[in-house]
Amino acid sequence: MQKLPLNRQLQAVEWRNSELTILDQRYLPEVVSYHHLRTVEQVVNAIQTMQVRGAPAIGIAAAYAVVLAARHCFAQHGDGWKQTIAKQVNLLADSRPTAVNLVWALDKMSALIETIQGDPESKLLAMARQIHQDDIDANLTMGIYGADILGKCTAVLTHCNAGALATGGYGTALGVIRSACSRGLQQVYATETRPWLQGARLTVWELQQDGIASTLITDLASGYLMQQGKIDWIIVGADRIAANGDTANKIGTYALATLARQHGVKTMVVAPCSTIDWTLISGEMIAIEQRDPMELLPDSYQGDDSLVTAWNPVFDVTPAHLIDAIVTERGVVFKPDENGMKKLQSSASQESQAE
Ligand code: MRU
Repeated sequence: MQKLPLNRQLQAVEWRNSELTILDQRYLPEVVSYHHLRTVEQVVNAIQTMQVRGAPAIGIAAAYAVVLAARHCFAQHGDGWKQTIAKQVNLLADSRPTAVNLVWALDKMSALIETIQGDPESKLLAMARQIHQDDIDANLTMGIYGADILGKCTAVLTHCNAGALATGGYGTALGVIRSACSRGLQQVYATETRPWLQGARLTVWELQQDGIASTLITDLASGYLMQQGKIDWIIVGADRIAANGDTANKIGTYALATLARQHGVKTMVVAPCSTIDWTLISGEMIAIEQRDPMELLPDSYQGDDSLVTAWNPVFDVTPAHLIDAIVTERGVVFKPDENGMKKLQSSASQESQAE
């Protein structure tokens, strides 16, 4: 298994030498390869094919892509660049449907575009860098809040990859796990996360890069794990949280949270406020991405005469009542519901006005 060179921090997305550098997550852990992207079309393709993935990382990549788009539009059209950039922003917004961080970041970039006169690149780059840095800062803060909640808990399970690879750095769920491990958390279990194997390929690899031991299980071993009393908490990230706390995350999260309730295990969702979609009153309104059935179907069932099809929703919605805590950088909502989320919203907006 490949190890990153020492002193090279794990970065899914990076602005380097005036271009967007991404770590291609399709071939990890066997191959660590980086791509240097210079156009919006390249970034859209990278998002759609999951070279870059994870809600916050997608949003950050899209913000940097707007810088690339602005450079191109300004070079081509001079002062008319604003008329042409909207189409590029729309292409980015449509690249994946469930993670709200994508449109959240694009809205921020679009609002700034409205105010810019002259060459836009440096101002847009400063905003994209800010979005990136804010995400890392949020993860570090959530790491502390989440580890405080875990207290003396000794064993946790995480699902999918909500680590440095899925964010600006450090991670949401894995940020909490990193922080808790530094305080003595002893046992980290990770699900494989079928069909794309984010857990098997990314999470355990990412933890290993940090010297954190973990134990991989098949997705369906999670029920037996809980029945055996081996974990206290499930810790996951989120792709979109509705205003009542219902949470869309990687397919299987709902099943895990349901099993957790059955076995007295608690469920923690860790996500920055950029993952909360205040416009949706409940999780029923969240668009769930359906990916190509070919991601699931073995080659032998892919012929025209095959009677086997596949259904491949890649996210599901966990109702708020199955969640024990939503951890954000602006505070924690225990036993989330509409009222708890509203309190978070108002304290978050007061804090951001004060900044
Ligand atoms: O399909 P993916 O790999 O983009 O899905 C990622 C997840 O579901 C993560 O749990 C979520 O984006 C949170 S990442 C901090």
